[in-house]
Amino acid sequence: MRDILPPSSAVWNQVEAAARKIFARFHYQEIRTPILEETALFARGVGEETDIVSKEMYTFEDRDGSSLTLRPENTASVLRSYIEHRLDQNAGLQKLYYMGPMFRRERPQKGRYRQFFQIGAEAIGSDSPAVDAEVIEMVVALLTEVGISGFELLINSVGSKESRAKYNEALREELKEVAPKMCSDCQRRAVTNPLRVLDCKVPEDQPMIEKLPSILSFLNHQDAEHFARVREFLDDRQISYKVQPRLVRGLDYYARTTFEITHGALGAQNAILGGGRYDGLAENLGSKVAAPGIGFSIGEDRLVMAVEEGRTIQAKPLDLYIAPMGDNALRHCAVLAGEIRRLDLSVEVGTDRKLKRMLELANKLEARFTLIVGDNEILAQTYALKDMKTGEQRAYSRQGLLECLGNGHG
Ligand code: HAM
Repeated sequence: MRDILPPSSAVWNQVEAAARKIFARFHYQEIRTPILEETALFARGVGEETDIVSKEMYTFEDRDGSSLTLRPENTASVLRSYIEHRLDQNAGLQKLYYMGPMFRRERPQKGRYRQFFQIGAEAIGSDSPAVDAEVIEMVVALLTEVGISGFELLINSVGSKESRAKYNEALREELKEVAPKMCSDCQRRAVTNPLRVLDCKVPEDQPMIEKLPSILSFLNHQDAEHFARVREFLDDRQISYKVQPRLVRGLDYYARTTFEITHGALGAQNAILGGGRYDGLAENLGSKVAAPGIGFSIGEDRLVMAVEEGRTIQAKPLDLYIAPMGDNALRHCAVLAGEIRRLDLSVEVGTDRKLKRMLELANKLEARFTLIVGDNEILAQTYALKDMKTGEQRAYSRQGLLECLGNGHG
């Protein structure tokens, strides 16, 4: 877990503002869910056998004995909220976005934190492949808006329950022979949830995983058709992608479309975002009505890293530094600063007794303008505004000063 400090925090704000803009264009609205949920939500939603639930959650017992967990992701929470508040009764699809911290007790490395931030969106209420393509289009628009290029979109279909059951059977059969040579996690998964073998990260297991059958050969007719239509919609939009049959993703709720985007700045291991369809998740969480949906979550820490790559971030410059000379001037300047801030300019008022030190500070803060105010200036009601770029100094009346600063700084 880490602190996010200025000037980097400004990039976080830029990224969030860009995301809100794109979400608005696609008519998504914000949802905020609690950071704590009952542990059972993630166990049922994300899946007991996943790394997230079996190894990485921050879980604790509350004072009343109930088990709570710091959310490791937000899709299960959004679905919980959707069901609890009967959002299915609202008109149309529920298109929701969120931003906020998630918690996973992973091994820390570059771009991987135990408290990390996601920007995500969920479109709930339709199983149409058109929605899949639109969600992917939105993700691409968002990355483009923040100035990221050179990313790679990987897509796959993990099929519906029926197709997956057949694939799991085939994997189980295949793994009978191979699994004993694999890591202990894979040996267990080969029996409990063979699909999870595909997200094993142990390097020695990879050649064996490569040889396992592809899920795409096990899709039933409807699933294959759904996947074909998603690709067709992407082709229409000229969004390029690579079909990656091993992309099953690390959460159990996926059905049909899954996708990830990787970026050079982070390496192939670290996806900048991941998402997919989760038809059936709502029913798993106790919903009586079906709520097919699709969504994604961007790793904001990683997105910011990619944005910052090769660009020096500068602190937001200060518009005006006012140096008051003496107590009387300090009172006067405080009020004057208030008026100038209402023009939407950033202003700092010095509190040092030494003028020289105040001017040094104004320089360090890279103030665009400085204003020195003493009793004489107050009496005469004239203000000497210094342009720090040109070194030029000009005298203004109070009104003149406000007009000059208000008019894009004179
Ligand atoms: P996920 O693949 O587990 O999916 O996480 C999405 C993204 O969050 C990852 O691609 C990565 O960028 C970021 N991320 C995950 N763990 C960490 C970490 N420890 N440190 C930094 N970044 C991290 C989900 O969470 C799903 N809820 C996505 C989704 C939404 N599927 C459907 N709707």
